[in-house]
Amino acid sequence: MEVRTIGVVGAGQMGGGIAQVSLMSGFRVLLNDVSEAILVRGRANIEKGLDILVRKEKIAAADKERMIGNLVTTANISDFASCDFAVEAATERQELKLALFRKLDEVVPAGRILATNTSSISITGIAAATGRPEKVIGMHFMNPVPLMKLIEVIRGLQTSQETFDATMDLSRRLGKEPVPANDYPGFVANRILMPMINEAVYALMEGVGKPEDIDAIMRMGANHPMGPLALADLIGLDTCLEVLKVLQEGLGDPKYRPCPLLKKHVEAGYLGKKSGRGFYTYPKA
Ligand SMILES: NC(=O)c1ccc[n+]([C@@H]2O[C@H](COP(=O)([O-])OP(=O)(O)OC[C@H]3O[C@@H](n4cnc5c(N)ncnc54)[C@H](O)[C@@H]3O)[C@@H](O)[C@H]2O)c1
Repeated sequence: MEVRTIGVVGAGQMGGGIAQVSLMSGFRVLLNDVSEAILVRGRANIEKGLDILVRKEKIAAADKERMIGNLVTTANISDFASCDFAVEAATERQELKLALFRKLDEVVPAGRILATNTSSISITGIAAATGRPEKVIGMHFMNPVPLMKLIEVIRGLQTSQETFDATMDLSRRLGKEPVPANDYPGFVANRILMPMINEAVYALMEGVGKPEDIDAIMRMGANHPMGPLALADLIGLDTCLEVLKVLQEGLGDPKYRPCPLLKKHVEAGYLGKKSGRGFYTYPKA
């Protein structure tokens, strides 16, 4: 089935990035979030991302205008009646995603694929909330979306081969390299990444090192491009906490218990780069 219009739910850092790469690959994009104010900010961030590419001469100014011309923002998800493929990238909370998928199932034309960018929540469970479970799939983009090549494509138990093939195909059309994974808590990327980030927060809590020293040791000692605490700030500490809860509950092993210092940061609203403060502080965008 041909895809011309991609519907993206959530205009935050991931939804904005997914919208941007979709526009850059020639798709029309419908971007949805809960309020006009958030959508205005989402659109401005996408424009900022494209402006950087114009400055670097990766795209022409006229290309940017054409891409932005293909972006429609809407606070009304019923507008997704005109989309050919939906990607959900709203806040990482299971009840929220289940409710959103019930709604998407109502409004997106039957036969169309509903993908979720969840970092950890069961694709099988999300699929079961819809009347088209064989058309539901995980499409786990990496942050920042315009720069990162990988999409982890996760098959739920009910996902059909046709849905899987079409999603792998679309991922390549977005200029990405899709790699398959099966549906267990955290899939592959976060099953391995989040325990490392959590351990770094324990090391910080126990006074093993200061944030910049923990990060420097992992950057230079393990050859990671950024340290685990800076990466946690980039991902969002609320998202990290939610993923760890899913790992803990889904796998039942105490080794995944979220560090109390991580919980405390989230309680304080220190969510990382997006809120201006996490393990580090950031100038206001
Ligand atoms: N941050 C990362 O590094 C990363 C990487 C891969 C996947 N993800 C996943 O992507 C998703 C989004 O994460 P993010 O980092 O962009 O978070 P974010 O906080 O930047 O954005 C989430 C957006 O969802 C919106 N939202 C909440 N409820 C909604 C609803 N009912 N309808 C429409 N929009 C709604 C919020 O208003 C917000 O704008 C999560 O599932 C997360 O696990 C995040």
